[in-house]
Amino acid sequence: MSAPKKLFIKTYGCQMNVYDSERMAEALEGYEQTQSPDDADMILLNTCHIREKAAEKVYSELGRYKVLKDAKPDLKIGVAGCVAQAEGQEIMRRQPLVDLVVGPQSYHRLPEMEARTHNGAKVVDTDFPEEDKFEHLKARPKAKRGPSAFLTVQEGCDKFCAFCVVPYTRGAEVSRPVDRILTEARDLVERGVREITLLGQNVNAYHGASSQGEQSLAQLIWALDKVDGLERIRFTTSHPNDMTDELIEAHGTCDKLMPYLHLPVQSGSDHILKRMNRSHTRDSYIRLIERIREARPDILLSGDFIVGFPEESDQDFADTMDLIREVNYGQAYSFKYSPRPGTPAAERGEVDAAVADARLQELQALIAHQQKTIQDSMVGREVDVLFEKPGRDAGQMMGKSGYLHAVHVADCTAQRGDIRKVLITESQRNSLAGRLV
Ligand code: SAH
Ligand code: SF4
Ligand code: F3S
Repeated sequence: MSAPKKLFIKTYGCQMNVYDSERMAEALEGYEQTQSPDDADMILLNTCHIREKAAEKVYSELGRYKVLKDAKPDLKIGVAGCVAQAEGQEIMRRQPLVDLVVGPQSYHRLPEMEARTHNGAKVVDTDFPEEDKFEHLKARPKAKRGPSAFLTVQEGCDKFCAFCVVPYTRGAEVSRPVDRILTEARDLVERGVREITLLGQNVNAYHGASSQGEQSLAQLIWALDKVDGLERIRFTTSHPNDMTDELIEAHGTCDKLMPYLHLPVQSGSDHILKRMNRSHTRDSYIRLIERIREARPDILLSGDFIVGFPEESDQDFADTMDLIREVNYGQAYSFKYSPRPGTPAAERGEVDAAVADARLQELQALIAHQQKTIQDSMVGREVDVLFEKPGRDAGQMMGKSGYLHAVHVADCTAQRGDIRKVLITESQRNSLAGRLV
């Protein structure tokens, strides 16, 4: 057998891309991963199209590979993910270095595509195939891995928010069958996984087939709850309209379900929410948060916000700031609106860029303050930490609390994969420090 070739994968965008990258690396037989593009035989960029900046990064990264390809003409360069889906062939016109373009729904065909590039062919596949890619991917390896894993259970989106490319790049909403997810989860546990984050662009809209008929996300969570050795369950990203009663209830009754929920609202203004086609209101969101907190009072809430959406007035923005004050987030992602080709909002006038920048700064300052206050409130508490890896200092271990705070413990006797009680002694910039109890 010849020595394995080297594969360098760079991942952009959301957790679903992280999962896909893992699956693509496993699918490409004869390759082992390298941490640097310099010694790679194949470079694969798994890309994100959500904002213009995200998409443009890909081209500047590709430009850097010219010297590598000049030095090693056999080097294969591929573009996968949502930019691949959105731009297809166009990528090769803009950057002739690229040998291969593969969309997020057809990467099970990657091995044969890679083989075709050896004859110098340029290969593009951005189909939305009938077949389920997961069924056609090579079985996952049995090798040990880290204690926390992503598992995609649902893909695509039918919601068509006016700003968003996901329904176009990932296609219609599809749920994987329950038994396949359970099998994959058990295999992950055998490999050392203790925590699984269920992924979907609209994960709480999950409705997978099973022998007992269609199952909801809450039912899937209860099925996973019975998997021995699996200690923690999370899910992301949820849409407010799909937070069902049984899912809210599970947050209060399922011990393995962690007290953290990412529930994007995007804006606090009803006018803007309507123009975004979000189909929830400010009020319905706030009432939903109240119900979730009734079920699980200590839950840490996270959100996504877009500022500078077309027509956003000072008052609309003030409404968003009010909503943030009312909810009190432990964590949030916020973005300046980026018009995306092909989406309805891209046809509308834009808010002045300087105004949008100022709003983003103001919003991020408020979120940072809330985040820090909630993080600081952990000092003096005992929390369960799942230890993931050694920290920067000798003897130090790093892990995550149920609230997803990073926790460092010095002179730590816990091993990777252990869940141990930690007394939090200090709140640092982006993490907590503590000692084993
Ligand atoms: N499915 C998830 C979000 C997927 S995209 C949901 O419905 O919440 C992740 C985040 O990117 C979104 O929540 C939104 O805040 C942001 N986003 C999406 N399109 C954007 C755009 N055109 N400009 C700026 N931010 C955008
Ligand atoms: Fe995009 Fe809206 Fe679908 Fe989320 S729900 S992926 S923001 S279209
Ligand atoms: Fe980006 Fe595609 Fe995820 S556009 S956010 S990588 S679904």
